[in-house]
Amino acid sequence: MTLLKGKVALVTGAARGIGKAIALKFAAEGADIAFTDLAIDDTGLATQSEIESLGVRVKAYASNAADFDQAHLTVQQIVKDFGRIDILVNNAGITRDGLIMRMSEQQWDTVINVNLKSAFNFIHALTPVMMKQKSGSIINMASVVGVSGNAGQANYSASKAGMIGLAKSVAKELGSRGIRANAIAPGFIITDMTAALSDEVRTEWAKQIPLRRGGTPEDVANVATFLASDLSSYVTGQTIHCCGGMNT
Ligand code: NAI
Repeated sequence: MTLLKGKVALVTGAARGIGKAIALKFAAEGADIAFTDLAIDDTGLATQSEIESLGVRVKAYASNAADFDQAHLTVQQIVKDFGRIDILVNNAGITRDGLIMRMSEQQWDTVINVNLKSAFNFIHALTPVMMKQKSGSIINMASVVGVSGNAGQANYSASKAGMIGLAKSVAKELGSRGIRANAIAPGFIITDMTAALSDEVRTEWAKQIPLRRGGTPEDVANVATFLASDLSSYVTGQTIHCCGGMNT
């Protein structure tokens, strides 16, 4: 398992959920791991230990991805600590759902800042590093609702559609520098984010999924590993749906 041997990966919002699964999978493939989360509490420290037990270098950084200056300082620190960054996964994300008529300005701004501006912050901070290296793989965590839209999630869907447009634009701007950028659009993935939904809602979702189940964080991590590795060396500007066929 050495698909990512010699590479350094930065995953945002990776103390738990999909980000954690990606960090673990990358580590299992030999990558050294820098990961961020809002705070590095017991959950983050446990994730750090789990990754460490796979025999790679790992360090957790407390960093609000939505904050431009913090993102830049974090990237500077990671480059100091690890010497390079080959893979960036913009994974940090939240929901603040509500119908558009009742959505507050704060609900809108928070989701756009955490889900979309965060990716700009990290890409902006990392571009000079990757340009110097003449290589890099950027992965934006989008969502199927960024493609299809979803009632009650105008802010979230818009942020995820933005993640797709951002990846495509970066792919066009930086392809000549050896930097690739792609998006993953997960469907219904079973994590803390979706645990809040009722059993009824989850059963309804499953009925609409051709593979008849919600996805696991590991399902998404496998796609991320493909995009991070040289297996995808001729893939850029694309969105890979990981949704059990839901958006087909
Ligand atoms: P989660 O809520 O389990 O984990 C998200 C992590 O991001 C948490 O550790 C949280 O502390 C961290 N985070 C939140 N705001 C942050 C900030 N400002 N700075 C740094 N870290 C921050 O969520 P999950 O399900 O693992 O989602 C991960 C990504 O996948 C998100 O971008 C989400 O929108 C996306 N996604 C999830 C789907 C699902 O069904 N679970 C479906 C489609 C996309």
